Parts: sequence; structure tokens; C-alpha cells
Amino acid sequence: MTLRHLLEVDDLTPDEVTAVLDAAEAPDPPQVLARKGVALVFEKPSARTRNSMEMAVVQLGGHPVSIRGEEVAIDVRESAEDVARTLACYHAAIGARVFEHDKVERMAAVSHVPVVNLLSDDAHPCQALADLLTIRQRFGSFAGRAVAYVGDFNNVARSLAIGAALVGLSVRVACPPGHGPSAADVDRIRAAGAELLVTHRPEEAADGADVVYADVWASMGQEAEAAARKLAFEGFTVDDALMARAASDAVFLHCLPAHRGDEVAASVCDGPQSLIWQLAENRMHAQRGLLVWLLQQAPG
Ligand code: CP
Ligand code: NVA
Repeated sequence: MTLRHLLEVDDLTPDEVTAVLDAAEAPDPPQVLARKGVALVFEKPSARTRNSMEMAVVQLGGHPVSIRGEEVAIDVRESAEDVARTLACYHAAIGARVFEHDKVERMAAVSHVPVVNLLSDDAHPCQALADLLTIRQRFGSFAGRAVAYVGDFNNVARSLAIGAALVGLSVRVACPPGHGPSAADVDRIRAAGAELLVTHRPEEAADGADVVYADVWASMGQEAEAAARKLAFEGFTVDDALMARAASDAVFLHCLPAHRGDEVAASVCDGPQSLIWQLAENRMHAQRGLLVWLLQQAPG
């Protein structure tokens, strides 16, 4: 038994990703959290992550305690380490949505219970697991499929690209200059096993792709840059013309919240190729599978 955390999706091996996705789809979830709690800290807003995590915990027999960031004030009232040590006194697992990624790293470094990154400025691994679950449900397997991410290479894009690489999807990323993956990102995605295309041309990424994915152009914490980003991302809207370049049975995914008319046209977001609500529901199933898997690894 080894204590495991999920701070980025490549904390899991490809076989472990498969095990989590299989657990997500297993009927009759084991009551691994009976009489136990899970602490969920949110430094940023959340609709999907908070609700899907709380309900995943309930489905495993446990009790979720959601905590607003200012209640624990990580690194203001006390250190990330002491917040984690405190929550681990009462809970079987800790989830945290934070600005700086190093906060979840520092929590995991001292916690004796699993720590799950519920989104940081760098990564959104829980979203990536739900993305992969949705793609696997739609196509049956990942073999020979390609995912095209169009927009800002942000937390969601990074975790999606790494996760897709792990399971053998081919990865295409189209971003405006200055908003694409760093050299370290490219190395990490390729190290995870991907055939990777990085381009400034959305059409090149979308050509023949099986999945077209979009996220907001200004993430939480970047609100002051929203107007400048709107200009920088002109031409990066996923619209019907772009979807027409993808495979005829391609699907559209978005982690949500969506800004229709910016990163995605309403006709695509709400159109027949869109699986955004299946994906939103899958957040709960994927995180339930993840919690089962993490707790089965955890000592004691
Ligand atoms: N996709 C996602 O993480 O949504 P929330 O920010 O609402 O949790
Ligand atoms: N990239 C977005 C994702 C929201 C779920 C953000 O960080 O705000």
C-alpha cells in the first residue's frame, strides 16, 4: 500500500488511468468512505467540481465538507502544510482548488491522506479524467483517435494533453502566439507518449480530429486581461466551419463554464455534436472512480 495523490494526471500511469476509468463505470460503488469525511477547499469559484465531488463522496458513503478559501486562508492564516495536516486529522482525503500549483504540492508533501488537485493555475487533472471517460464512452477506445484543443493552453488544456497522451490519443493544440505550450509542456506531453502537433492554425488542428475541445480565453484570476485576450484569440472560435473540418462523427467538448460567441459558437456548444452535459455528469463518475482507487491504495 502506498499513499498516492493526484496533482496532475501523469501522477497516474496509463494502466492506473484505465483502472480509475473502469472504477468510474463500475456499478454498486464500494462504500470506501463509510463514516469518513473528505475536505474540499475552494480558493476559486466552482459549480461542477464542488457539486460533483460532494456527490461522489456521498455515493461512496462519506461526508463532504466544503470549505471556502478564506475560511482556511492558505499561507495567510496558516501555511498550506498546516492546513493539510489539520484537515488530515479528520478526513480520509483532501481536495483543494488553488491559485498557485505549489500549494497542492506542499499539502501533498505533508499529508498522510490523499490530496487531489481540484484545479490550480497549472492543472485540472479531475477534468482530464472526465474528458477521457467521455471520449472512451463515445468511441469505445482511444486507439487511432485524435483530440484537437483550440484556444488558450491553460490548466485544462495541459491536463487534457497529458492525459490524452497517456492513453494513446494523438494530440493537436492550436493557440495564438504567446498562448501555447512551453518547451517544458511539449516535453512532458511527448514523455507521456503523444504524437503531438502544435500550431497557430485552428484548421490544421481540427482537420480530421475526432474530438474538438475548447475552454475560456481568460481563466479565473485573469479577468483583468479578458478584453486583451478577446483580441488575441480572434479567429480561435470553434464554430460550424471549424467542426466541418473534423471527422464526420467528431464530438465537441468543453469543460464549462462556456462563453458562447467567444471560444465556441452557440450552434456548436448546443448542437448535435456537443457532449458538454455528458462530460459535466462524468465529472462525478470519474471522481468517484478516482476516490475509490486512491483509497484502495492508501495505507491504513
Ligand atoms: N469544469 C469545472 O471545473 O467547472 P467548475 O469551475 O464550475 O468547477
Ligand atoms: N481554465 C478555466 C477552467 C475552469 C473550469 C479556469 O481556470 O478558469
